[in-house]
Amino acid sequence: MLPLLFVTLVTAVAARRSPGADYVENWLKQDGNNRYSSDVIEDALLDVPDLIEKYGYPLEIHKVITSDYYVLEAHRIPHGRDQNNESDTNRPVVLLMHGLSSSSVEFVAVGPASALAYILAEAGYDVWLGNARGNYYSRENLYLDPDDRRNLDFWRFSWDEIGNIDLPAFIDYILKVTGQSKLHYIGYSQGCTAFLVLASLRPEYNEKIISFQGIAPAAFFVYNENAFLDIVPPYEASLEDIASKLGIGEILGNRELFMWFAVNHCIEGSVLHRLCSILAIGGDTTFFNTTLSPIYFGHTPVGVSIRQVIHYGQCANSKEFRRYNHLPITNIAKYGRPVPPSYDLSQITTPVYLYYSLGDTVADYRDILYLADRLPNVVSLYQVERPSFTHLDYAWAIDAKEQVYDKLITFMKKAEATNKN
Ligand SMILES: *[C@@H]1O[C@H](CO)[C@@H](O)[C@H](O)[C@H]1NC(C)=O
Ligand SMILES: *[C@@H]1O[C@H](CO)[C@@H](O)[C@H](O)[C@H]1NC(C)=O
Repeated sequence: MLPLLFVTLVTAVAARRSPGADYVENWLKQDGNNRYSSDVIEDALLDVPDLIEKYGYPLEIHKVITSDYYVLEAHRIPHGRDQNNESDTNRPVVLLMHGLSSSSVEFVAVGPASALAYILAEAGYDVWLGNARGNYYSRENLYLDPDDRRNLDFWRFSWDEIGNIDLPAFIDYILKVTGQSKLHYIGYSQGCTAFLVLASLRPEYNEKIISFQGIAPAAFFVYNENAFLDIVPPYEASLEDIASKLGIGEILGNRELFMWFAVNHCIEGSVLHRLCSILAIGGDTTFFNTTLSPIYFGHTPVGVSIRQVIHYGQCANSKEFRRYNHLPITNIAKYGRPVPPSYDLSQITTPVYLYYSLGDTVADYRDILYLADRLPNVVSLYQVERPSFTHLDYAWAIDAKEQVYDKLITFMKKAEATNKN
């Protein structure tokens, strides 16, 4: 047994708005022109639990405490609204983990009938949405203060800790509450990275997973030519040092710069609107419903530690998927060697289903194929049909259901059937 895994089911949270609510209100006030529906604006200002309740879905908020005392928040949709809506049935359980600088909002933002969390609930799943340490919903620790500028200990984590510490806390907690012995895991981008960390460092967790559905998994950056990632590697060694001298452990939690751009240029009709959309959406915008822009800016970005970004930079630099690279002396203390070890992917025995798109410039399809070659139990390697499908389209595109989710649910059901045999 782990030392603690403890827990509360929280019935009511003090009124909390979306992370970007103030900025969205400000932006719309300055904009003056009422181009967005009041319904969309309301969605931009509500936090995730209120969003789920607004659309008539059952909701539970759970607090899960990790072995290093981070207080994480999970949002549960225990059953469907229109179908599979009896509350007393034992349903297959699925845990979803979001990407970098996002939150559980990724799986509910585009609303019922379109967002993955609702589609899964209607399909008969007990849906749990995790929030990694440091994001808006999990920005708490029993002993460390995320807002202390002189002590940045709260922010000394990368996705290694999210995989190695947060995921076991969520999984053990969920299995205990539901009384089940296994669950499905759906990761999106960094949510996949964290799973690969977990299943390689703590292989006993493979036994608790029915299937790993890896959407746009970020692990190797051997082929990626993405400009943003290119910026990180040269500064790898000094970035954390400089940041900690400035008292910065968290990036992107402060949305001033991001929102300055949004407020000034993300107005439909602005000459820079397209550039704005590309920055925000990472490519082709044809399939992004721009009437939903306020929702995007109300909920993204949320807190990220500087190490999460540096760790990806290290992967790009070394062309390896390995543990966080500290100074050599710290590496020796932590890993018993001056260079960090690679994650041992041969340990990952869970059935793996991967999804990639040719149009994804963040998780390059060649890097995903490279990853698949190194995993021992890949059941399916699925290429999204529409070639222009981008990294953010997995959560935000109007055709995500047809392109990905329907397929994903078919694969989950197949994995359940195999698991029973
Ligand atoms: C529950 O599901 C049934 C069957 O799909 C449906 O007829 C009914 O309207 C749903 N109940 C509610 C309260 O929506
Ligand atoms: C875009 O979003 C708006 C507001 O939710 C909705 O009314 C409209 O149908 C959506 N468009 C498409 C093409 O899905």
